[in-house]
Amino acid sequence: MQSYIGVFDSGVGGLAVVRELKNRLPREAVLYVADSMYFPYGTKPKEQVIRRATSIVDFLQGHGARIVVVACNTASSVIFPDIQETVEVPVLGMISAGVKSAQLATRNRRVAVLSTPGTAKSHGYLRAMGLLDPTVEMVELQSQELVNLIESGSINGKDVAEYAAEVLRPVIDFGADTLVLGCTHFPFLNSLMNDILGSSVKIVDPSKELAYEVALVLEKCKLTSRERSVDRFYTTGDPSDFLDKAHLFLGDYVEKVELASI
Ligand code: DGL
Repeated sequence: MQSYIGVFDSGVGGLAVVRELKNRLPREAVLYVADSMYFPYGTKPKEQVIRRATSIVDFLQGHGARIVVVACNTASSVIFPDIQETVEVPVLGMISAGVKSAQLATRNRRVAVLSTPGTAKSHGYLRAMGLLDPTVEMVELQSQELVNLIESGSINGKDVAEYAAEVLRPVIDFGADTLVLGCTHFPFLNSLMNDILGSSVKIVDPSKELAYEVALVLEKCKLTSRERSVDRFYTTGDPSDFLDKAHLFLGDYVEKVELASI
């Protein structure tokens, strides 16, 4: 059987994580599931997100994943640590990578995190930061609308810029010098957010730290791939629709999208 890094999200956001994984581990193949049929996770009840995430992790394991990356903050905020006890392969998520990167980046110890309502409601970031470094103050911001705009492919245009500026105003009001992109969709708006916030706020994408952690775990557990496999992309929604989106966000890199009945 082919062997992969299994990655999943509710939609296109996890592709930003795939991008970082491929930068750091170009020889490793990725098996990606976009749970497009059940997008968005950000406004769904916690129990439903846990059910979907558990089924997808099973699918990834059954299709040759030797490590699983939960490339979704909303799922990461509700399935850890329990998920690690139910599967045989290592499972890594976004939140601990996000707080670690923020702690390294902040100078004034005031950090904002922008996420879905589901992630904000779980207070997963607050808790994780409290455990890592209680001297860092954190404000949790949320916007499902911005996530939905990105998922629909609307990343340019005046409307998105105006809306993003409104959503980000509390970052400045709070005096944060660091913004954590607490939803994997947001790196696709990184340069717009940079323009809005200016150079006094550092934008942190947890996927970079996560890709580093994946490389460490593969090395430590002797799981680095011996043979070259080809990346595979699945969606629970419409494959041709997801292929168009993948082209928009990752370029021609994704050649084919298959249907996963999960
Ligand atoms: N990209 C996901 C996250 O990081 C979820 C977006 C959604 O489905 O609402 O939270």
